[in-house]
Amino acid sequence: MISSLIIIACELLTLAVSLTAPSASIRQSRRLDTHLLPNRVIAQFPAGIWIENIAVRSNGNLLLTSFLPNATLYEVSDLDCQTPTVTRLFTVDAITSFFGITETSEDVFAVAGGNFSQSAGIGKGSSCLWSVDFTYGQPSYPELIATLPDAALLNGATTVPQKNHLVLVADSILNAIWRVDMKQGRVDKAAQFLPERESSSAVNIGINGIHIHDGYLWFTNDTATANPVTGALETSMYRIKVDDNGGAANGASAEKVLTLPSGAIDDFTYGPGERNVKWIAANKENKVFAATPDGKYAVIAGASNSFEVATATACKFGRTRADSYILYVSTGGGTINGTTEGGKVQAIDTTGFRV
Ligand SMILES: *[C@@H]1O[C@H](CO)[C@@H](O)[C@H](O)[C@H]1NC(C)=O
Ligand SMILES: *[C@@H]1O[C@H](CO)[C@@H](O)[C@H](O)[C@H]1NC(C)=O
Ligand SMILES: *[C@@H]1O[C@H](CO)[C@@H](O)[C@H](O)[C@H]1NC(C)=O
Ligand SMILES: *[C@@H]1O[C@H](CO)[C@@H](O)[C@H](O)[C@H]1NC(C)=O
Repeated sequence: MISSLIIIACELLTLAVSLTAPSASIRQSRRLDTHLLPNRVIAQFPAGIWIENIAVRSNGNLLLTSFLPNATLYEVSDLDCQTPTVTRLFTVDAITSFFGITETSEDVFAVAGGNFSQSAGIGKGSSCLWSVDFTYGQPSYPELIATLPDAALLNGATTVPQKNHLVLVADSILNAIWRVDMKQGRVDKAAQFLPERESSSAVNIGINGIHIHDGYLWFTNDTATANPVTGALETSMYRIKVDDNGGAANGASAEKVLTLPSGAIDDFTYGPGERNVKWIAANKENKVFAATPDGKYAVIAGASNSFEVATATACKFGRTRADSYILYVSTGGGTINGTTEGGKVQAIDTTGFRV
């Protein structure tokens, strides 16, 4: 009886029929190519709420961190319903913003936070890392694991494979990667890139998303440069060999591996499953790119004047059988043609992606 009531309350839908049809034809090219995939809105937040990052629980629910207006963790459940349920789990008062989120052990997540405001910029000395534990059911307030007094502006976070108590967090101002031992609360630098920048109130975002894959730490660099020939803005992804503890390997230096025709580049993920395709949120470009290991890439969602994935901040694949090919994209929202929308989560069906 109860389960049948739930099914009535939760109007189940078949993704294939609910998704909007692709609005562009498929063209094959190594260069800029558009291969828009079907997608739908999973959660829409009011204007002023910027969703910064996304993690997926083992039960399939999404966890969202907010960057503006405050440091809130949201959970999205009933993803197979037409209107999934969004729950505000908690808001941390000690800081203004949450950044990256990463799972450190089954259903335990590390969340990076600190102070940032659009008027005042970064809040020096406010960076910190929290732990949120779902293993006993809904979590209570998160636990403060470490403060990072020397960090300037934390951003993407990732867990070191096989050393799950070690979390790496990008510092977008200092061009560094911080490493936090979640058991001991110890903090050190896992990598420092050039130029070694000082903490300043000027917000010039460098390293943004970070993930370890195939023995390398891959990262996006949000600093755009003008293409010497066309003058168009482009941004790049890099990789650097790392050791078992996630630190830059002896003598290793970062190499540029992918350049996109984009004025911004934010967090990214791999998948679906074991597939080695990179899915990259392009922030203020309002797009998501997909790139194959041989350097082919395509815009798979959004457009500069579309709200579809406006200010795309991060993306993750689903973790259940039903949604392992669904890419969930978090966004910060934005203003287009005088209309302002808040952040959201968009679900992209990648089943038809072929290159
Ligand atoms: C945080 O922001 C959200 C969204 O605006 C709001 O609903 C919530 O009340 C705020 N929480 C606190 C503690 O300020
Ligand atoms: C960070 O922001 C919070 C909330 O506004 C404030 O209470 C706290 O003092 C700030 N911390 C620092 C180090 O500036
Ligand atoms: C990021 O890109 C800028 C511009 O190309 C470059 O100066 C900087 O060294 C890059 N940062 C890293 C960490 O590679
Ligand atoms: C904004 O205006 C442009 C030009 O008229 C139009 O192509 C685009 O669809 C509009 N976007 C939105 C979100 O209204």
